[in-house]
Amino acid sequence: ARITLRQLLDHAAEHGYGVPAFNMNNMEQGLAIMEAAEETKSPVILQASRGARAYANDVVLAKLIDALVEIHPDIPVCMHLDHGNNEATCVTAIQYGFTSVMMDGSLKEDGKSPADYSYNSGITRRVVDMAHWGGVSVEGEIGVLGSLESGGGEQEDGHGVEGAISHDQLLTDPVQAEQFVRDTHVDALAVAMGTSHGAYKFSRKPDGAVLAMNVIEEIHRRLPNMHLVMHGSSSVPEDLQEIINKYGGQMKPTWGVPVEEIQRGIKHGVRKINIDTDNRMALTGAIRKVLTENPSEFDPRKYLTPAMAAMKKLCKERFEQFGTAGNA
Ligand code: G3H
Ligand code: 13P
Ligand code: NA
Ligand code: ZN
Repeated sequence: ARITLRQLLDHAAEHGYGVPAFNMNNMEQGLAIMEAAEETKSPVILQASRGARAYANDVVLAKLIDALVEIHPDIPVCMHLDHGNNEATCVTAIQYGFTSVMMDGSLKEDGKSPADYSYNSGITRRVVDMAHWGGVSVEGEIGVLGSLESGGGEQEDGHGVEGAISHDQLLTDPVQAEQFVRDTHVDALAVAMGTSHGAYKFSRKPDGAVLAMNVIEEIHRRLPNMHLVMHGSSSVPEDLQEIINKYGGQMKPTWGVPVEEIQRGIKHGVRKINIDTDNRMALTGAIRKVLTENPSEFDPRKYLTPAMAAMKKLCKERFEQFGTAGNA
């Protein structure tokens, strides 16, 4: 059944587990995530970005979710908008059946430049008021995602970006987080503690200097009842890097967020853990393997079936590691 983020995360908080929020762009990802949820008896958060909505078409996504919910009637499903950039993006997601939206006002509408506090709190509050009329949950974000190692200037492909983001903005200020929750009434709060989106987060295994889990602990002390969200939470597993590179890919050496750090976060109020890159890597590694070993193959099912299996395996691991398994 379809449920809201608030319902799902209240249960997670009560029972002390976290829930991975997996990005979804197509049928294969949807089927893989749901089979992993079914086999581990896990509640699930499916999230679609603006890019996913443009890629798949809102109508296709909406009917795909209907189908996934119908196939798996016993699995609680939250359908969430990832990184909404304005009121309209959030309202239209709700019209298509999303039960939760993220209004990311930490960045301006372009999704790139950092926004000031009053812009963020104002637009987030407007979305909360509107969404709550319809019983839809809202995630807000305070602080800007970005690598402390590179001063925020790191993009998904490992290349630098223009417009440096200051070190302070890369870590959520716990006092400002408290104010933001009071001003906006969000159901869940994304915070920044040194992670970034994409595969190139850290150039070595992260320590406390670059992955500031102490910030999460301080925010949780001040806001013990708030559901915290970790973005950029892919672990970028070495074995997936190896598979991709073994079969003709060119990923540079890199580190993601260790699962044990996420588990530490879950002990301190982290309830939603956003993962996209790990699944992209699982799919791509499996597809590269099939096409490299069988260059004459051109039936998409021959590479998409193992790709789904690789993604399902990764999703099942995360459901087990975050304590989600068994809670559906
Ligand atoms: O926020 C980043 C997620 O990985 C979604 O990425 O905007 O390319 O769909 P996307
Ligand atoms: P990753 O790139 O680490 O998978 O993060 C995804 C994310 O935060 C989506 O909002
Ligand atoms: Na999100
Ligand atoms: Zn994100």
